[in-house]
Amino acid sequence: MLKKRSPLPHGGEGGANQNPTEWKKIVEKSHALVLVLPEYNHSFPGELKLLLDSLWDEYKGKAVGLVGVSAGTFSGARVVDHIKPVLIELKLHPIKESVNIARVAEAVDENGEFVNAKTTEYTENMIREISSVSSALSTLQK
Ligand SMILES: Cc1cc2nc3c(=O)[nH]c(=O)nc-3n(C[C@H](O)[C@H](O)[C@H](O)COP(=O)(O)O)c2cc1C
Repeated sequence: MLKKRSPLPHGGEGGANQNPTEWKKIVEKSHALVLVLPEYNHSFPGELKLLLDSLWDEYKGKAVGLVGVSAGTFSGARVVDHIKPVLIELKLHPIKESVNIARVAEAVDENGEFVNAKTTEYTENMIREISSVSSALSTLQK
Protein backbone atom coordinates (compact mmCIF):
# COMPACT_ATOMS: atom_id res chain seq x y z
CA MET A 1 0.00 0.00 0.00
CA LEU A 2 1.28 3.49 -0.92
CA LYS A 3 1.74 5.88 1.94
CA LYS A 4 1.20 9.62 1.53
CA ARG A 5 4.51 11.45 1.76
CA SER A 6 5.39 15.06 2.47
CA PRO A 7 6.03 16.98 -0.76
CA LEU A 8 9.66 17.23 -1.79
CA PRO A 9 11.27 20.66 -1.64
CA HIS A 10 10.62 22.39 -4.95
CA GLY A 11 11.05 25.86 -6.36
CA GLY A 12 12.71 27.18 -3.21
CA GLU A 13 9.83 25.99 -1.04
CA GLY A 14 9.93 23.38 1.63
CA GLY A 15 12.57 24.96 3.80
CA ALA A 16 15.28 26.42 1.61
CA ASN A 17 13.78 29.93 1.51
CA GLN A 18 12.44 29.99 5.03
CA ASN A 19 15.55 28.62 6.64
CA PRO A 20 18.58 29.32 4.45
CA THR A 21 20.72 26.23 4.05
CA GLU A 22 24.48 26.13 3.51
CA TRP A 23 23.72 25.20 -0.12
CA LYS A 24 21.53 28.27 -0.60
CA LYS A 25 24.27 30.51 0.84
CA ILE A 26 26.89 28.93 -1.42
CA VAL A 27 24.78 29.26 -4.58
CA GLU A 28 23.75 32.84 -3.81
CA LYS A 29 27.29 34.08 -3.44
CA SER A 30 28.69 32.13 -6.44
CA HIS A 31 28.91 33.45 -10.00
CA ALA A 32 29.30 29.90 -11.30
CA LEU A 33 29.38 26.35 -9.93
CA VAL A 34 31.49 23.23 -10.39
CA LEU A 35 29.72 19.98 -9.48
CA VAL A 36 31.87 16.92 -8.76
CA LEU A 37 29.64 13.94 -9.49
CA PRO A 38 30.31 10.39 -8.30
CA GLU A 39 28.47 7.96 -10.59
CA TYR A 40 26.02 5.68 -8.78
CA ASN A 41 24.22 2.98 -10.78
CA HIS A 42 24.84 4.82 -14.07
CA SER A 43 23.48 8.14 -12.80
CA PHE A 44 23.70 10.82 -10.10
CA PRO A 45 23.13 10.21 -6.38
CA GLY A 46 19.53 10.81 -5.24
CA GLU A 47 20.78 13.08 -2.45
CA LEU A 48 22.26 15.42 -5.04
CA LYS A 49 18.90 15.64 -6.85
CA LEU A 50 17.15 16.53 -3.58
CA LEU A 51 19.75 19.18 -2.89
CA LEU A 52 19.43 20.68 -6.39
CA ASP A 53 15.62 20.64 -6.16
CA SER A 54 15.69 22.66 -2.92
CA LEU A 55 16.47 25.94 -4.76
CA TRP A 56 15.20 27.74 -7.85
CA ASP A 57 15.70 31.51 -8.24
CA GLU A 58 19.25 31.27 -6.92
CA TYR A 59 20.42 29.25 -9.97
CA LYS A 60 19.20 31.56 -12.71
CA GLY A 61 21.85 32.33 -15.33
CA LYS A 62 24.77 30.58 -13.63
CA ALA A 63 27.26 28.47 -15.56
CA VAL A 64 28.05 24.99 -14.25
CA GLY A 65 31.14 22.89 -14.87
CA LEU A 66 30.79 19.13 -14.42
CA VAL A 67 33.36 16.68 -13.12
CA GLY A 68 32.36 13.01 -13.35
CA VAL A 69 34.28 10.57 -11.14
CA SER A 70 34.17 6.83 -10.69
CA ALA A 71 35.92 4.21 -8.62
CA GLY A 72 36.54 2.09 -11.73
CA THR A 73 37.31 2.74 -15.37
CA PHE A 74 34.07 4.40 -16.60
CA SER A 75 35.12 7.89 -15.38
CA GLY A 76 31.64 9.20 -14.62
CA ALA A 77 30.74 9.80 -18.29
CA ARG A 78 27.14 8.69 -17.75
CA VAL A 79 26.52 10.78 -14.64
CA VAL A 80 27.65 13.90 -16.54
CA ASP A 81 25.15 13.18 -19.33
CA HIS A 82 22.30 12.34 -16.93
CA ILE A 83 22.55 15.50 -14.85
CA LYS A 84 22.45 17.96 -17.78
CA PRO A 85 18.64 17.96 -18.41
CA VAL A 86 18.08 18.49 -14.68
CA LEU A 87 20.44 21.48 -14.63
CA ILE A 88 18.86 22.99 -17.75
CA GLU A 89 15.40 22.69 -16.18
CA LEU A 90 16.76 24.59 -13.17
CA LYS A 91 17.91 27.38 -15.56
CA LEU A 92 21.54 26.60 -14.92
CA HIS A 93 23.94 26.53 -17.90
CA PRO A 94 26.02 23.34 -17.97
CA ILE A 95 29.04 23.80 -20.19
CA LYS A 96 30.21 21.21 -22.67
CA GLU A 97 33.82 20.97 -21.45
CA SER A 98 33.53 18.46 -18.60
CA VAL A 99 36.28 16.60 -16.76
CA ASN A 100 36.07 12.83 -16.31
CA ILE A 101 38.17 11.03 -13.73
CA ALA A 102 38.47 7.24 -13.63
CA ARG A 103 39.94 5.37 -10.63
CA VAL A 104 39.44 8.47 -8.53
CA ALA A 105 41.26 7.03 -5.51
CA GLU A 106 44.52 7.08 -7.52
CA ALA A 107 43.94 10.30 -9.48
CA VAL A 108 45.56 12.79 -7.08
CA ASP A 109 49.11 12.69 -5.63
CA GLU A 110 50.22 13.55 -2.10
CA ASN A 111 50.51 17.25 -3.07
CA GLY A 112 46.92 17.39 -4.26
CA GLU A 113 47.95 17.51 -7.96
CA PHE A 114 46.40 15.33 -10.65
CA VAL A 115 48.64 12.39 -11.54
CA ASN A 116 47.52 12.55 -15.17
CA ALA A 117 48.60 15.79 -16.89
CA LYS A 118 45.61 15.47 -19.25
CA THR A 119 43.24 15.81 -16.29
CA THR A 120 44.95 19.10 -15.35
CA GLU A 121 44.67 20.28 -18.97
CA TYR A 122 40.95 19.39 -19.18
CA THR A 123 40.29 21.05 -15.81
CA GLU A 124 42.02 24.28 -16.87
CA ASN A 125 40.07 24.23 -20.12
CA MET A 126 36.81 23.74 -18.22
CA ILE A 127 37.60 26.63 -15.86
CA ARG A 128 38.38 28.91 -18.83
CA GLU A 129 35.05 28.00 -20.44
CA ILE A 130 33.14 28.55 -17.19
CA SER A 131 34.73 31.97 -16.92
CA SER A 132 33.86 33.07 -20.46
CA VAL A 133 30.30 31.64 -20.38
CA SER A 134 29.80 33.27 -16.99
CA SER A 135 30.92 36.68 -18.30
CA ALA A 136 28.63 36.35 -21.32
CA LEU A 137 25.67 35.39 -19.10
CA SER A 138 26.25 38.32 -16.77
CA THR A 139 25.98 40.80 -19.68
CA LEU A 140 22.70 39.16 -20.80
CA GLN A 141 21.16 39.74 -17.37
CA LYS A 142 21.82 43.51 -17.29
C1 LIG B 1 25.82 1.74 -4.93
C2 LIG B 1 26.99 2.13 -5.81
C3 LIG B 1 26.78 2.23 -7.17
C4 LIG B 1 27.84 2.61 -8.00
N1 LIG B 1 27.63 2.70 -9.33
C5 LIG B 1 28.64 3.07 -10.15
C6 LIG B 1 28.42 3.19 -11.55
O1 LIG B 1 27.35 2.99 -12.06
N2 LIG B 1 29.47 3.56 -12.33
C7 LIG B 1 30.70 3.81 -11.80
O2 LIG B 1 31.60 4.12 -12.59
N3 LIG B 1 30.93 3.73 -10.46
C8 LIG B 1 29.93 3.36 -9.63
N4 LIG B 1 30.13 3.27 -8.28
C9 LIG B 1 31.43 3.68 -7.75
C10 LIG B 1 31.32 5.16 -7.32
O3 LIG B 1 31.33 6.02 -8.43
C11 LIG B 1 32.49 5.48 -6.40
O4 LIG B 1 32.21 4.81 -5.22
C12 LIG B 1 32.62 6.98 -6.18
O5 LIG B 1 33.13 7.57 -7.30
C13 LIG B 1 33.50 7.32 -5.02
O6 LIG B 1 32.73 8.03 -4.17
P1 LIG B 1 32.27 7.39 -2.76
O7 LIG B 1 33.55 7.21 -2.00
O8 LIG B 1 31.40 8.48 -2.22
O9 LIG B 1 31.55 6.11 -3.03
C14 LIG B 1 29.11 2.89 -7.44
C15 LIG B 1 29.29 2.80 -6.07
C16 LIG B 1 28.25 2.42 -5.25
C17 LIG B 1 28.49 2.32 -3.76
